[in-house]
Amino acid sequence: MWKGRFQTETSNLVQRYGESISYDWRLYAYDIEGSIAQAAALQDAGIINKTEERAIIRGLREIKKEIETGEFRFKTSLEDIHMNIEAALTEKIGAPGAKLHTARSRNDQVALDTRLYCRAETKAIFNRLTAMQNALITLSVNHSGAVVPGYTHLQRGQPVLLAHHLLAYVEMLERDKERLRDCYKRINVMPLGSGALAGSTIALNRNLIAEKLGFPAITQNSMDAVSDRDYIAELLFIISMVGIHLSRLSEDVILWASAEFGFIELSDAHTTGSSLMPQKKNPDVAELTRGKTGRLVGNLMSLLTTIKGLPMTYNRDLQEDKEPLFDSIDQIKLALEVFSEMMAVAKIREDRTQAAAADPFLLATDLADYLVLNKVPFREAHEIIGKLTAYSIQQQRGFPELTLEEFNQFSDAFDEDVFKVLNVKTALRARKSIGAPSPVNIGRQISRWQKRLHTAKSL
Ligand code: ARG
Repeated sequence: MWKGRFQTETSNLVQRYGESISYDWRLYAYDIEGSIAQAAALQDAGIINKTEERAIIRGLREIKKEIETGEFRFKTSLEDIHMNIEAALTEKIGAPGAKLHTARSRNDQVALDTRLYCRAETKAIFNRLTAMQNALITLSVNHSGAVVPGYTHLQRGQPVLLAHHLLAYVEMLERDKERLRDCYKRINVMPLGSGALAGSTIALNRNLIAEKLGFPAITQNSMDAVSDRDYIAELLFIISMVGIHLSRLSEDVILWASAEFGFIELSDAHTTGSSLMPQKKNPDVAELTRGKTGRLVGNLMSLLTTIKGLPMTYNRDLQEDKEPLFDSIDQIKLALEVFSEMMAVAKIREDRTQAAAADPFLLATDLADYLVLNKVPFREAHEIIGKLTAYSIQQQRGFPELTLEEFNQFSDAFDEDVFKVLNVKTALRARKSIGAPSPVNIGRQISRWQKRLHTAKSL
């Protein structure tokens, strides 16, 4: 492509070192879509005529088909997807093909392709997030009565409905979707026409290109347009955040699937055995998701570090944006798919959750609140219940097994009705402030989510 200036061929080693075709071939459909819009703008500007435009479109469509059927031969010597397609086009249709790159550089071309790619993939991730939310809601509905201990420091704290725990993840994923929606606005800006860095003396109608490609906005600074990768960094951050949310859920699932918790039973289809220990059923999907999150964060770091010291404008370093981007998108889509499938059919062992939730110490805070309602200052109540807990442990008898006389040894504010407090159902029902897990609240939350996910627009 640059034979004019050079006397010797690029060394084979440099070709191997610098090629991106082995991975950026994936941008082919966007490259072709962009070139068709470019041809329209060239025709509009009088650089090519209608017949030439038609030849270009026909040639590009043929190339697309050849790539899709596997007939197309990608050449490493042609470095990247842009030059592979352009060379094939000129070989096919001759002169009009050689006019296509007028007023265009690979710098604005690759920016366009990447934005088109990110646009489509952002939508795909968004929809998978919704599917994952739906899977969690299905599980919540199927086990709407299940109570589990809520933990802090991985120590039993207070009782909650399992659905409350699951809906916490639905909230997290909703924030991820909001972030995607916001990032999408910055992805959805059309860079073509920026040329190598300073536009072109042959002015193309950029609004026409934007319209053809469905962009609501066009970039306003050619130097920024060819070197901006902010939108990729943002997307990689959001993907990392989704990964981190799934990784936290993974950790819960791994704990729950252990014999010690036994809250969840994953289907055989989503677990693996051990080559040595015949009894094992391992939650590999969750472990892999937790593990792959390291990769997602690494991909974000990789891009940020690449961009960090770059002078204006395009530098070849920027070619290094693609592998982390492709990898993160592939992995998060898979993770969301497999996790949705796994959670939708997972079995909750309600006998085990019920046994765990029957731990009377989960109601220690409720006892303190009871004293508060009987006019004991909270700090005092806290200390009274602390002493009562120590006594109960020492006696090896839970709160409900103690007598009122024993309660009264710690405070005379206890009355016969204290035993009503010592009931998980009552305790949950009383947690009715906004955001708390009373069954009425959870029922409302579930219908709110069902309605919202049903009616919410995708990107
Ligand atoms: N393959 C290149 C990339 O991904 C395309 C842009 C090349 N531009 C250049 N001036 N060499 O960044």
